[in-house]
Parts: sequence; structure tokens; C-alpha cells
Amino acid sequence: MSPKRYLITSALPYANGLKHIGHLAGAYIPADIYVRYLRAQKRDVVFVCGSDEHGTAIPIQAMKEGTTAQAIIDKYHQAMKEDFADLQISFDVYHRTSDPLHHETSREFFTYLHDRGELETKETEQYYDEASSTFLADRFIKGTCPHCKSDRAFGDQCESCGTALSPDELINPVSTISGQAPVKKLTSHWYLPLAKHEAFLKDWILTQHKDDWRASVVGQCKSWIEGGLQSRAVTRDLNWGVKVPLADAEGKVLYVWFDAPIGYISATKQWAIDNNKDWKPYWYDNDTQLVHFIGKDNIVFHCIIFPTMLKLHGNILPTNVPANEFLNLEGDKMSTSRNWKLEMRDYINDFVKKENGGEQCVDMLRYYLTQIAPESKDSEFTWKGFQDAVNSELVSIFGNYVNRTFVLMHKLCNGKVPTFHAEVADEKDQQIANDILATKEKVETSLEQYRFREALFEVIDLARKGNRYMQEKEPWIVAKGLAEDPSKQQLIDNSLHQCLQLTANLAILIQPFLPATAKKMCYMMKVVDKMLDWENAGSMKLLSVGYSLREPQLLFRKIEDQEIAAQIEKLKSGAMQAAPEPAKTNDSTAPLHDLKAEIVFDDFGKIDLRTGIITAAQKVPKADKLLQLEVDLGFETRTILSGIAMHFDPEAVVGQKVVVVANLAPRKMRGIDSNGMILMAEDADGKLHFVSAGEAAKGGWKVS
Ligand code: MF3
Ligand code: ZN
Repeated sequence: MSPKRYLITSALPYANGLKHIGHLAGAYIPADIYVRYLRAQKRDVVFVCGSDEHGTAIPIQAMKEGTTAQAIIDKYHQAMKEDFADLQISFDVYHRTSDPLHHETSREFFTYLHDRGELETKETEQYYDEASSTFLADRFIKGTCPHCKSDRAFGDQCESCGTALSPDELINPVSTISGQAPVKKLTSHWYLPLAKHEAFLKDWILTQHKDDWRASVVGQCKSWIEGGLQSRAVTRDLNWGVKVPLADAEGKVLYVWFDAPIGYISATKQWAIDNNKDWKPYWYDNDTQLVHFIGKDNIVFHCIIFPTMLKLHGNILPTNVPANEFLNLEGDKMSTSRNWKLEMRDYINDFVKKENGGEQCVDMLRYYLTQIAPESKDSEFTWKGFQDAVNSELVSIFGNYVNRTFVLMHKLCNGKVPTFHAEVADEKDQQIANDILATKEKVETSLEQYRFREALFEVIDLARKGNRYMQEKEPWIVAKGLAEDPSKQQLIDNSLHQCLQLTANLAILIQPFLPATAKKMCYMMKVVDKMLDWENAGSMKLLSVGYSLREPQLLFRKIEDQEIAAQIEKLKSGAMQAAPEPAKTNDSTAPLHDLKAEIVFDDFGKIDLRTGIITAAQKVPKADKLLQLEVDLGFETRTILSGIAMHFDPEAVVGQKVVVVANLAPRKMRGIDSNGMILMAEDADGKLHFVSAGEAAKGGWKVS
């Protein structure tokens, strides 16, 4: 018996930056496939998401961009919402945690637990910045790393050697807000005592769900539980977030990981308001199936902490948490600081928002990301892999099958669905009908167990079988004998009748994965979207005999070699624009100055350095980091792209005297040729300074 209703959630993305395809493949596409499948089955389903707008990540990003936290969340909330919509992620509501409805909902939640004595308080000493009268979140304290002695260490982690730190371990800590040394001050916080709920968690996860949840999810929970459950602070000293709803809690907010998952509830409430529905059954009725789609770094919050909160608050618990592993990119982990990533927005701009065939590119990405989804282990996105998946599967198998069917139907059957003549049917005609039914069942089983790769494979495999059937029946050859034996038309009719019914079935089965493709197929078949109802799958009567169909349209376009070459080039040059990564080492005796390997004079002699004067500067559209500069070198004016836009406004750099690497091979970025490089110096705080050409009065002087 299927449950009465479903509530499906995708992890609320932090509103501190654009999201990349790893996020998309992990928490959004699989959820969207699942939801579209449920909708096609006419189940009662609500799909919620929204922006996670609290936590220190937001003020930190504001500091980086030199703006306010509010400006940051407004900008990225809007941008993320648009990107999801562009990629056809069909949330029923995309909410945000800065919304008053959410503040109210999470305060109510906290108060409920607090009033029932489910929270503990504890006093601890924490770093406090007297100059700004604030307690310092871990990230707001900088100092020297006790391991590698780098001064790029923060209270949570050393940026140089990657070691996780606590603020107490930092040598010579200073506040990043005031630059002064912080003092220790007593503060008290509320904690959720998880140890009290160990028996519940053990039984619920390690017994009840040990077989139906993914092994990696159960495994992570097991090691958490067995490692001893610590009390978790649910409040923070911070002036950004949901205020703690108690009288003696001045300057305190709910910890972001306490309020963010409650965001799923607030979003459901917002959906109910917008649609005149009741939200309560979705969170209180046991006949609701709650499923959280997340990445593996969120497992403990969704499987241990939030469920404990839900239980204490009287809500239902998730039925499953199909967490995904990570998606790597071209042989390396995706990383924002190293700029090794493919943002959703970049794909949208480079493929989807293009004149010719752009609209097909959404499904092409959805296809590849589902095919390589990191369901049980990390997986990898490569541009070559993308090209192969599109060209040799979508185009050559699925697209080709549909196209051939339509072309032949127009040529051999007058553009109409031909009759099926049972008297001349053979076992191949029957076999293909059986294959459709079998595929439908396999897709259902796979989807219901959150195995999306497998489900998609089955659909493509059915198209492959369709190609084989057509190849065996070869109606175009049969047609050559028509003049001699007109009764052969019956054989032609049968094969195209079956091929067309298969096409209609493929549209139904592919729809959760590739919704735009399914729609386009409906257009070609002149049927309404209602035909896509899941219950129709398996039928060989979807298209009526005699019905005339449209001309075929290409479902997918090919990905050309130069497109992927350009993307790889862009990825590499983008990574070079990123702040240089400090050498990684755990060796505390390593020299602090990080000198590169020795070179001989001739190596240096190859570099032609010249003085230059910046005469014009402008931002490069859609490239946060790049400024396009015109630099006067005396003998000529050069266009140079420089990755300094986060540090300087264009107006501020005009007139600046600089040193230019003048014989660097030109490089194309964002379609602009960059001819040379400007020398910059980075200080200990990661701030950039021009290497000034001193008193050089004009461009072109040699520097050596
Ligand atoms: N913002 C978190 C992240 O990106 C996810 C929050 S999920 C929620 O890792 F449940 F807390 F909402
Ligand atoms: Zn370090």
C-alpha cells in the first residue's frame, strides 16, 4: 500500500555563493526525478526547498564581497532560485530562512523543546572581541597554525595544511573584525543532549532502517552513535540568525544547523498558504512519507540531530535519507577556493541560453548527471564523458530511434498511425510489447529504491531494443517488394505501429528524468501531456490507429569537440585565476616562506617584464573575479584580463602604474583575448596589492 502523501525535501543551499553541478547531482536532480515520478502516478506530493541564509558563512561572504549580509542573501537567494528553475527543478515552493515565517517557526520549535526541559545549558569560555563587543565565531579568529606555522589559520581550520582546529589551538589569535587580540569570556548556551536519545537512534536507524537505507548512510550513523553521542550546542553568540526566544539571551541566535532543517517545515507552511492547503498532515500524520535528499556531508544532521528534534517536537520522522557521495570534476575534487568547479550558472549561460538547441541542453545535463550520479561512491564529471553520453546515447540511441520511427511512418504509412494486423503478427512484435511492460516494472522498482542510475539505464535500454526491433523488421526493405506483393504493407504497418507505441511509452518512462524531451515527444505525437500519466505505461494502444502525427524534430543536438575543448580550457584558466593555493604540507619543520624550486638565470631571462599604465578598466560580464584592463605599454596598448575584481573597483585602478609580463602567450577567457599579465603581491591577509612600477613615467620600460 502506498502512503497517503509524500513530502520530499532537497538540502537548503547556503545563500553564500552560486551552486555547482556537484550540488545539483547530489540533492536536486534525484529529488526532482523522484517527485516527477510520484506526480505522474498522481500521488499527493509536495517538494520543498529554499535558501539557507544563516550561519557564519553569510557574514563571512559579506566581508569578502565588501557588503552586508542582507545584500549577500538577497543576491544569492535570487540567483539560486533562477538557476534551479532554468534546470527544471520543479520545487512546489522555494522558500528562504530569513523569512519571518521561518523565524517564527523555528522560535516556536526551540521554545517547545525548551519548555519541556529537553535542552540543557552549559557555560563555557569563548573568545570575545572587546573592540567590537562580540563573541567571535571560530571563523572570525585568525592566527598561526600549531601544525604548519602558517599564518593562514582560522579558529576552525588551517587554510594552509587543512588541519581542523579549535580556536584554543591557534597561536597568537587575533579577531578578524578588529585585528586585536581577543579575550576569553564566559558565555552560556543551550544544548541538545543527544546521549539521552541513544537508544531511540540505535533502534530507529541501526535496526529498523538497516536494510532499506543506503549502506553508506547507515554506516556513518553507526560510527557516530558508537563514537559516543555528545550534547550539541543549538545556540551561538552571533548577530546574524534567528534570535533565541528567551529573555536572558541577548546577542544569541539559534545555531544554523538547528534552524535550517526547520526550514523544511516553514517552506511547507508557505506552500500551504500559497495553495490554500493544510500543512499539518505533512509533518504530523504517520501516513506521510518524508524523504530528505542531501549530500553526504549532511548525513549526521538529517539522520541524527534533526530526527531527534522532530521526535521531541512530536513530528513524523524521515522514511529515508538517500544521501549521495561527491562528484569530482576532471580528475580533481570540486573546490570554490581553487575555482575548480562548474557552476550551474556557467552551464546555463554556455549551453542552455544559446540560440541553437539551447533548450535541449537542460535534459542533456540532467541525463549525464543522473547517469554518473554518485549514489554509492564518489564519481566524476568529465567533459569527454558528457560528450559521449550525449552523442552516443541520447543522440544515437534514444533520439535516433524516435527520429527513424517518425521518418519511416511518414514515408511508408502516410504520416498516420498504421493498423496492427494481428493475423500477420510474429513473436518479435509480441516481444517488444513484453519488453515495454518489463521495463516499466524495472523502472518502478529502481526508482522506489532511489536507484536513479539504474532506472535511467533501463529506459535507454528499451530504446536500444527499439532500434534492434526496427533493424530486424527493416520496413524500408520490405517496402521494396510492395509493387510485387501489396500485402506486404501489413508487415510494414505492424512494425511501425509497434515502433510508435514504443515511442509513446518511451515518452512516459523518460519524463521524470528528461521532462522537456517528453513534452517535445508529446508535441510530435499530437497528444496532450495527460498521456504521460504513469498508469499509461505498458499500453500498446496509446496512439490511435489513423491518427496523423507531426513531422519529427531533433530531440538532442550533438556536442562538438571544440565545445568541450573550450570548457576544459575555461576550467583550467579559471583555476589559474584563483588565489594561488599555498603548498600543502603537514611537516611543521617546512620553511614558512614557501619558496618555489630554484631556477637558473636563463629561466628568468625568458620573462619580458615591462612597465605599463592602466588606461581603462571594466568588469567582465558573468566573471566575478575578472577585470578587463587596457594597459599602455608605450609601444602599444594591450587588453589584459586580471583576476582582481574582488579586490578593486574598475575606477580605482585607472592610472595605476604596473609591471606587466609582456611576452606571455595570449589566452582567451570568457571570449576575450588576454595579452599579458599584471604582477600583484598578496599580503598575509590575502589582500592584493599592485607591484608598482614606481616612478616609471610611461609604459614600456624594461624591468629586470
Ligand atoms: N546549507 C547546508 C549545506 O549546504 C544544508 C542545509 S540542509 C538543512 O550544506 F536541512 F539544514 F536545511
Ligand atoms: Zn596549518
